[in-house]
Amino acid sequence: MPDIKLSNGAVINFDNSARTLLDALEREQLEVNFHCREGYCGACRCKLLCGEVSYINEPLAFVRKGEFLPCCSVPVTDIEIEIP
Ligand code: FES
Repeated sequence: MPDIKLSNGAVINFDNSARTLLDALEREQLEVNFHCREGYCGACRCKLLCGEVSYINEPLAFVRKGEFLPCCSVPVTDIEIEIP
């Protein structure tokens, strides 16, 4: 299972009990903005510093290079992220 490394150095493991990256981050009591949880609003946008994610459904919100939406994605490799 891929690891999620945070920019503060903490590492959490993504396992199958989390549906999305947002679920996994919330489980660790991390505060991530969100609204729709479906890839529409862009509120959950975080920085993807390293690694790859895949989207459960292609998001409608605008995502720049180096960003991702944790509410509708899962990690494909170990990833390093920054939560704004
Ligand atoms: S919470 Fe709306 S796009 Fe993620």
